[in-house]
Amino acid sequence: MVQHHITAPLIVVSNRLPFVLQRNKDGELSRKPSAGGLVTAVAPVVVDCGGLWIGWSGLHTEEPLEFIPESDPDDKAPTAGLLSKQVIAVHIPEREFDDFYNGCCNGTFWPLFHSMPDRAVFKAHTWDAYCRVNKEFASRTLEALRKSAKELDDQERFETCPVVWIHDYQLLVAATTIRQVVEEEKLRCKLAFFLHIPFPSWDIMRLFPWDDEILQGMLACDMVGFHIEDYCLNFIDCCSRRLGCRVDRNNMLVELAGRTVHIKALPIGIPFDRFVQLAENTPRFLKLAESEKIILGVDRLDYTKGLVHRILAFERLLEKYPEHVEKVTLLQISVPSRTDVREYRQLKEEMDQLVGRINGRFSMPNWSPIRYIYGGVTQEQLAAFYRDSAVALVTPLRDGMNLVAKEYVACQIKEPGVLILSPFAGAGGMMHEALVVNPYEIDKAADTIHRALHMPLDEREVRMKQLRHREQQMDVNYWMNSFLASMGAVNNSDEADPLS
Ligand code: G6P
Repeated sequence: MVQHHITAPLIVVSNRLPFVLQRNKDGELSRKPSAGGLVTAVAPVVVDCGGLWIGWSGLHTEEPLEFIPESDPDDKAPTAGLLSKQVIAVHIPEREFDDFYNGCCNGTFWPLFHSMPDRAVFKAHTWDAYCRVNKEFASRTLEALRKSAKELDDQERFETCPVVWIHDYQLLVAATTIRQVVEEEKLRCKLAFFLHIPFPSWDIMRLFPWDDEILQGMLACDMVGFHIEDYCLNFIDCCSRRLGCRVDRNNMLVELAGRTVHIKALPIGIPFDRFVQLAENTPRFLKLAESEKIILGVDRLDYTKGLVHRILAFERLLEKYPEHVEKVTLLQISVPSRTDVREYRQLKEEMDQLVGRINGRFSMPNWSPIRYIYGGVTQEQLAAFYRDSAVALVTPLRDGMNLVAKEYVACQIKEPGVLILSPFAGAGGMMHEALVVNPYEIDKAADTIHRALHMPLDEREVRMKQLRHREQQMDVNYWMNSFLASMGAVNNSDEADPLS
């Protein structure tokens, strides 16, 4: 892996800060680290280049937060080096947050971008709240750009071009305001956007009444990144058909008002080595009967993850292949998510009933088919579950990338298991050695699980070796470095095609 030396300050803008702030009973604030791979890769770069992270703190406060606590001296989290002056907490009043986050982000864009338009709600007042919140993020970013320009002398100001990197579907139109003001005030910066979820086809996107504003918001950047080429091509198609932009599909370029925007596929990876280390150093948590095998599912409790289809496929396996009764257990970990949104609460009910019904149908005095955890697990437990499971079921109906598939293969340090993967996850297009199954085909999915449980060791080894090699090479640092190289923000820029 090449380590780059970053040549420009990086300003990351994301809905959530890389840690959550919590208050103890005396009212004092402290940081609670977030475990995601994005944070692991991006936070050290922000620390090294003296950059900034702008985001919501996770707290609802009456007034804006006056200060962010420094990290605990014993903290080993990747964000520990981020000084409080490198963090800007955006304040969003609670009512406004409800319309923005529960209403527009998760009630409209989440289902729409995952091509599930029937679940999407289009409301003018939540869209208005979304635009206001995006403007607030933009103002805080502009304040930071003005402040950093003021601190430089003329020569430095000429040489320094900060990179502003906006993340995900919560902030699709923030760049509109940033671009406009940056041009008016002649501030120097490069603007980039990365979408962590799928980008849908034109036929879906056009259902959103203000789709032109979304596209213009994204095109206000110099570079727009997606996980895979399919999403890039969907976006380019929308720009051409909705805005009439001139586009170059071969070189992935879109022209708007005389500016050329670079579109790039940058598939995100995981902190591979960290998962290997966890898998090597974590004891067993699972107590299994002799020759009992675990099939594992790990997901946020979200309707895009195909959980109901998966549980039905497992039920079908037990019906069709009774040899697995008392021998195989499905361990499903469902992490609570967005519980203020009705669709998520309904899914929780549906899952509770389904798991109860199947356990009631098949359980024996000393065995139950499904162990169902509705809650979070620690990173150590997770790594041990990955390592000790014979099969991982990663079967979303639609998913931007899916990191569980990658984490599972990283943790296969002993006798390898089998990854079963949906073609509708971004990861499905790259992890060719997995067994691919359409989650809507319940019967076929049952057959595929059966095949995985019987797969000979040498076949499992060959498949897993390739899968692990690719994920080790294309880990999250590789992703970060590819992004920096494509922005021309690193000193060995001959590696990629920096934007001029
Ligand atoms: C997805 C999105 C992220 C989001 C995460 C957790 O992975 O792409 O932007 O942060 O889900 O969702 P939450 O709504 O809890 O932030």
